[in-house]
Amino acid sequence: MNIAIVGTGYVGLVSGTCFAELGANVICVDVDIDKIEKLKAGIIPIYEPNLASMVVRNVKAGRLEFETDLASILNQVEVIFIAVGTPPCEDGSADLKYVLEVAKTIGWNMNKYLLVVTKSTVPVGTAEKMKTVIQAELNKRGVSIEFDVASNPEFLKEGNAIDDFMKPDRVVVGVESEKSRELMTRLYKPMLLNNFRVIFMDIPSAEMTKYAANSMLATRISFMNDIANLCELVGADVNMVRKGIGTDSRIGSKFLYSGCGYGGSCFPKDVKALIKTASVNGYTMRVLNAVEEVNVIQKNVLFEKFKKRYDGDVAGRKVAIWGLAFKPETDDMREAPALVLIDSLLKAGCEVCAYDPVAMDECKKRVGDRISYADNMYDAVIDADVIFHVTEWKEFRIPSWEAIKRLMKPNPVIIDGRNVLSEAIQNGFEYLKIG
Ligand code: UDX
Repeated sequence: MNIAIVGTGYVGLVSGTCFAELGANVICVDVDIDKIEKLKAGIIPIYEPNLASMVVRNVKAGRLEFETDLASILNQVEVIFIAVGTPPCEDGSADLKYVLEVAKTIGWNMNKYLLVVTKSTVPVGTAEKMKTVIQAELNKRGVSIEFDVASNPEFLKEGNAIDDFMKPDRVVVGVESEKSRELMTRLYKPMLLNNFRVIFMDIPSAEMTKYAANSMLATRISFMNDIANLCELVGADVNMVRKGIGTDSRIGSKFLYSGCGYGGSCFPKDVKALIKTASVNGYTMRVLNAVEEVNVIQKNVLFEKFKKRYDGDVAGRKVAIWGLAFKPETDDMREAPALVLIDSLLKAGCEVCAYDPVAMDECKKRVGDRISYADNMYDAVIDADVIFHVTEWKEFRIPSWEAIKRLMKPNPVIIDGRNVLSEAIQNGFEYLKIG
């Protein structure tokens, strides 16, 4: 089966490569010439475990190609996925500029039937808008060509994207014709053969499913962060509470970890966009407004603990930050809690030295040399009063506490934004956690 994916960002590149791995012939298209040249040479623009080798293998096998000119490949494919960015507008709504530009190019250049599928996270009604744009272009040309639109939202997590794509909990497909259902069934046949669930539904429901899923997960996190903050006040331990409630099969154990707030490219953006969709439809998402509010406050919780520990006497203190990315196994700094912490620390006159296994270059782009960067977790703590553990990379789990104590100032403090370093207590550290 011949397919194209427009947009070689996170979702586009992973999806295109995985479809090729499943046997489809895939053309990945992007307007960024430099990016496409690099991809052709096997240089991957993002950090994602196992992606580079999979790209190289499928390019070699002739199933994966990279192109810059969308118009020129339209007639070689049956299905075209749109995976371009939908960045947030000032008011929180998703900006569909790029999606609709692609639709316009498709309408202006297509010469045979095409199934146009959105993979980017797009608000309910976007497929319909795309259809209108494509049809308007066909009308301008005075031609009548059959086409369909569909919605196939992606649920992959950064750092685990390949597995999430290849072994999904479910695949959600919104269609509006038998022909498009047949095409999507063929494309996902390898998944169906492996007994993964492909759930067909109408297009608006598929579009809504993505926002509802991310918003539900964000809600669990903000709920647990609220519970954690209350645990501190009443002397309960949120780790115990999490185990206690997570074993109830109706609740389940995943996404119940309290911490320093959710970040990344999806949760903050999608929660805001769903709030906005509701408001333009005359409805208020009361729960989601609170989810968002809790998260904004939670991102500052580490700094508040620090200030309280030193009775406000924090100016001039040297601090180390372990982990910058919004979560482990990625270099993504978008909406990362570390950025909020760094900002507060610098405003308070602290000297900050950070270490992250892969995200330091990304951090430098945003924070520059206002903080210093260490080559490893030990260099970061030299002469520090406090270590902030912000991203739970595995390498921070069992450090040599003795060495760390020797390197830090006397009375060392760990402020753990991920609640996993409690063994610091037995090693003579003052340990502050969340909840
Ligand atoms: C998310 C969704 O999981 C994925 O299905 C969707 O397609 C895109 O958005 P991602 O943003 O890559 O994926 O990260 P995820 O692993 O879901 O974590 C999001 C944020 O929540 C991180 O900041 C993480 O630290 C935080 N988190 C997660 C918690 O604070 N507690 C938890 O229990 C789980």
